[in-house]
Amino acid sequence: MIPSRRPCYHVAVSPLDCLAVGLTTVDVLALVDGPVREDEKILSSATLLDGGGPAGTAACAMARFGLRTGLLSFIGKDEWAPFVLGGLQRFGVSTRFVRQEAGLRTPLSLVLVNERNASRTIVWNSAGIGKQRWPGPVPRTRCLHCDGHLMELSISLARRLKGARVSYDCGSVKPGWERLAALSDVFIASHKFSRQLGWSIPRTVQRLRGRFGFEVAVTAGENGVHYWDAGSGKVRLMRQRRYAAVDTTGCGDVFHGAFLASYLKGKGFAESLAFGQRVAGLKTLKLGGRAGIPVRV
Ligand SMILES: Nc1ncnc2c1ncn2[C@@H]1O[C@H](COP(=O)(O)OP(=O)(O)OP(=O)(O)O)[C@@H](O)[C@H]1O
Ligand SMILES: [Mg+2]
Repeated sequence: MIPSRRPCYHVAVSPLDCLAVGLTTVDVLALVDGPVREDEKILSSATLLDGGGPAGTAACAMARFGLRTGLLSFIGKDEWAPFVLGGLQRFGVSTRFVRQEAGLRTPLSLVLVNERNASRTIVWNSAGIGKQRWPGPVPRTRCLHCDGHLMELSISLARRLKGARVSYDCGSVKPGWERLAALSDVFIASHKFSRQLGWSIPRTVQRLRGRFGFEVAVTAGENGVHYWDAGSGKVRLMRQRRYAAVDTTGCGDVFHGAFLASYLKGKGFAESLAFGQRVAGLKTLKLGGRAGIPVRV
């Protein structure tokens, strides 16, 4: 049982291992030959409709690798809602905390995947979910995993869930990131975040560790992940293996989910990063962020 200052707010069901908080989307993916130019019609060699979003996809990866997982997110009361809820439930993710709001449209992402280098170009719309408030009770969970898209709500939950571990997938600099970082136990950022701060990746790891004292890493796409090794007190690079990558959509999200599945089962930080890296690498072999999550590793 997670100790809490406010037990009366908790719903009377067994606690989750992890609650992911943030964005869940519908992804429309198309594999195309080369970069896309303006005002053209392009024949796609493969298309796919898949669930996406950093929190939604991380939740699916956690559930696939054995965690009791829930997602707290917002979608519309629209034609996409059954697709989103059904997709999460097929992975075994609890959708009790996914709210359908009449005034919202479900966030949609158009993903063009370049088959020459597996890079993905994403056009998306958050449909204003960032301003949503959580009207229900605080979910019972051992861990909160935040993607920063519901920033104020994540900060408020992290403060109220005393005893739960807080993980932050910091994809980019967003207002409030430092306040959420100050409440985090594990902080894994993307190389884009480092670039926005104007620091090298190793320097980002070092400075964040010095300031916040948490477990910290920064992912660097096909190059792997830089992390703080508490044993040696140094920043280390865990190189990624080469894969015959088809699509890198959702690699970061899957990395986070798989990392947490290992970390919350009590494995060490570096060992869990290695597991995240292996699962994310295997994900590149298939089209789709969630469709590509491997069944066996
Ligand atoms: N081309 C690739 N080949 C092999 N592994 C990859 C590749 N791209 C990403 N990965 C794996 O996925 C991890 C996360 O990737 P990346 O740094 O691109 O995350 P991100 O910027 O958060 O992306 P996302 O938009 O998916 O969230 C990497 O550390 C690596 O393990
Ligand atoms: Mg990411």
